[in-house]
Amino acid sequence: MPDAVSAPVTLESMRRRLKACGQEHLLAHWDSLPESNRRALLSRLADLPLESLRAMLAETESHAGAGLDSVEPVPVHRRDQRDATRFRAEGERLLREGRVAAFTVAGGQGTRLGWRGPKGTFPATVITGKPLFRVFAEQIRAAERRYGRSIPWYVMTSPLNDAETRAFFKDNDYFGREAIDHFFLPQGVVPTLDLEGRVLLAERDEPAANPDGHGGSLRALRRSGAIDDMLARGISVMSYFQVDNPLVHVVDPLFLGLHASAPDSSAEMSSKCVPKRNAQEKVGVLCRARGRGGRTVTRVVEYSDLPRELAERRGPEGRLVFDAGSIAVHAISVAFVARLTEDLDRFALPWHRAVKKTPYFDPATGRTIEPDKPNSVKFESFVFDALELAERSLVLETPRIEEFAPIKNAEGEDSPAHSHELQSERAASWLESNGVKVPRRADGTVDARIEISPLTALEAADLAGVAIPQRVERGHDLVL
Ligand code: UD1
Repeated sequence: MPDAVSAPVTLESMRRRLKACGQEHLLAHWDSLPESNRRALLSRLADLPLESLRAMLAETESHAGAGLDSVEPVPVHRRDQRDATRFRAEGERLLREGRVAAFTVAGGQGTRLGWRGPKGTFPATVITGKPLFRVFAEQIRAAERRYGRSIPWYVMTSPLNDAETRAFFKDNDYFGREAIDHFFLPQGVVPTLDLEGRVLLAERDEPAANPDGHGGSLRALRRSGAIDDMLARGISVMSYFQVDNPLVHVVDPLFLGLHASAPDSSAEMSSKCVPKRNAQEKVGVLCRARGRGGRTVTRVVEYSDLPRELAERRGPEGRLVFDAGSIAVHAISVAFVARLTEDLDRFALPWHRAVKKTPYFDPATGRTIEPDKPNSVKFESFVFDALELAERSLVLETPRIEEFAPIKNAEGEDSPAHSHELQSERAASWLESNGVKVPRRADGTVDARIEISPLTALEAADLAGVAIPQRVERGHDLVL
């Protein structure tokens, strides 16, 4: 978020500033405010980037869908490609040398899921109901054990869930990892507007604000000192992932190795994709298209910005032309983020907007109103817009069942129930590849609930060294 103008704040100067920006309503209830609320309101208003709001709104209109006349499918690497073994060995070397950090963006509000706490505290696994944060922590622990080096974990929170997130880690003894290998960094916030572009009030003395999107992570990494911390620890690459996907491979040696030793030279920001389930699936699409500077670059076009004709276009064999669905997993070089954010005043990712329901304080009635239809504009920036700024970038296609079962909605697609089915499917496929008989229904789905702890296996091959049953009983639960 742009830095606010700093001048001594008086009621009169603030009134003038608000008037110039068309935001006078924020002081309309001043006379009815107790003295302490007045001071709080004035100082909070002083922190708002009031002068930038109009330009931010205009920017969101100008770039949605820009450059799509030049869009092409993105070339992808595959896990079974010829040099895969070499790239995997390279990634393992990075892990053994302690050059890899995990980076989770967990600052979202999780409104669609309807979970009150930070999303990482949501019970995600099929049988034991492990919270998402524990699933990731156990993967990191298992990888640390395997490679003999610590993998520091950077977790982006937001001012709305930072304290609760830190407390959750502390209360759980950092899930058996060293406290010192955790770094929490709250992202910034931006004012939430009403549909006319006026800042909403959350309370009588508090303008409404929302987290500034996962694109805010790059700024937060710099501002919090996380980049310096990484450099001091000798970290060269972050494995970036969202908090919502319990099947994510938190550190994937093949992906990291490919990123670090791509055919020409190391990439700055790389991405993973899965073939889209269907044209309508709500995932961003990785593609090549003209970027903001006019250069053809790798980009993610968000599902809401992809015109239907492009989303549904099919090639000669019937496959979707734009089927590289982003699972929001990236390898990001520390040097790249250090370069981008060297001068924070000059670094910005474009703003996107989402129209959402936001409860607000109504000065006329003195009450909080719960709107029954979308009433607000939220600004967000997206980390994948940094792809355009990368000198080199590559994409690895990966099997969907191995790595993607996000929990986003309370019901239906991407719900906990849906994710559980997919988690059991992956566990079943790991068992079957180790010769275990798994019961399946007529439609091919697994007729049992299966959960494999990351501490037992990080991938199918690890089960070779574990005592596993020869068969899973129909309708039974199996925890390994
Ligand atoms: C996201 C991607 C989409 C991708 C899909 C894969 C965006 C805009 N879209 O969709 O391209 O295919 O995931 O699952 O990201 N977050 C923050 N701070 C914020 C906002 C979000 O940390 O201010 C985090 C959330 O905690 C979550 C993640 O970012 O981990 C995703 O955000 P969300 O807005 O839910 O994106 P999706 O619609 O799920």
